[in-house]
Amino acid sequence: MDKLAVVGNGPLRGMVRISGAKNAALPILCSALLTKEPCTFTNVPQLNDARTIVRLLMQMGIAAERTESAKVEICAEGLSNPVAPYDLVKTMRASVLVLGPLLARWGVARVSLPGGCAIGTRPVDQHLKGLEALGAEVRLTAGYIEAKCPRLKGAHIVMDMVTVTGTENIMMAATLADGVTIIDNAAREPEVVDLANCLIAMGAQIKGAGTDRIEIVGVQDLKGVHYRVMPDRIEAGSFLCAAAATGGDVTLLGAPVHAMGAVLEKLREAGCSLSISGEQINITRKAGLKAVSARTAPHPAFPTDMQAQLMAMNCVAEGTSHITETIFENRMMHVPELQRMGADISIENNIAI
Ligand code: UD1
Repeated sequence: MDKLAVVGNGPLRGMVRISGAKNAALPILCSALLTKEPCTFTNVPQLNDARTIVRLLMQMGIAAERTESAKVEICAEGLSNPVAPYDLVKTMRASVLVLGPLLARWGVARVSLPGGCAIGTRPVDQHLKGLEALGAEVRLTAGYIEAKCPRLKGAHIVMDMVTVTGTENIMMAATLADGVTIIDNAAREPEVVDLANCLIAMGAQIKGAGTDRIEIVGVQDLKGVHYRVMPDRIEAGSFLCAAAATGGDVTLLGAPVHAMGAVLEKLREAGCSLSISGEQINITRKAGLKAVSARTAPHPAFPTDMQAQLMAMNCVAEGTSHITETIFENRMMHVPELQRMGADISIENNIAI
């Protein structure tokens, strides 16, 4: 869809079921490359990025199909072409998630470098550093990452910074390596845990997902799986911010409450009432909205993917807030658009006031 037309009509009210998490679905779909057996994934959101991964797998000669609206079936029995071409990778940087699994299972991968993207340069040096530590020979030629290794070997890897897809790529590769791999300074995001749970269901030996040290004992092969993707904490948080901004009364069904601590805390601080029961969250507010400051950082801190929504909410709140972006260097692109709608925002380096 190229255009969304929104006609404001006051407070949002109603119930909404949360879809599967995009950032969990993408690596989970790629994990099917690690086994020759069929895999079935449910709760896969219907988004362009999920479609791109399915297209990418099909282009590699793998049987991949969305058989129902939220169900994708993949069987990576054979592979004709271990390549992720530029025209797909440029539309979605997460395509780099095929690198680790291809290398682990087939010993060879050719993946286009993502290049620049709208929220900054986003290098993949940590992915490559980790795979090299596992014994891969990595070359950069003509805009492509070319990696090979007949069999990866477990290693101790200390990530220079917390990277979500970097941790996922290395964790997937290590499931089929010889021996033990330890990833230190690993990302603790709930989507990393969801991927680890899927891999464990396939027979992988992984401990510590959700902490900053993940330990993987390589196994000979993995089996097929039937796995349900976790719900999307960013979608859930976005609905809550929209309800808060409009002073509505909204109930989320199937929300990943356990993964949303920092966002729920900010909404309470802003004066919202949250009533939580199991996977259901109801949000209302009696009084005016208070501006709240936040600083983005790796999980469990406030997520960068909720930064714009919180800022939009702050634009209609009482008082002044400081929003500090620490993950991406160019993630304030919504600011000029909010300003065009009359928002009072100034930017000082990575802080929006
Ligand atoms: C993932 C999420 C994205 C989210 C981001 C941060 C997916 C598909 N996407 O993106 O929605 O905004 O986490 O929570 O899960 N970096 C390097 N070298 C690397 C890798 C990363 O310098 O090799 C830097 C990046 O430029 C960035 C920071 O590390 O400044 C974090 O990026 P990373 O966690 O890797 O983001 P993604 O995994 O791409």
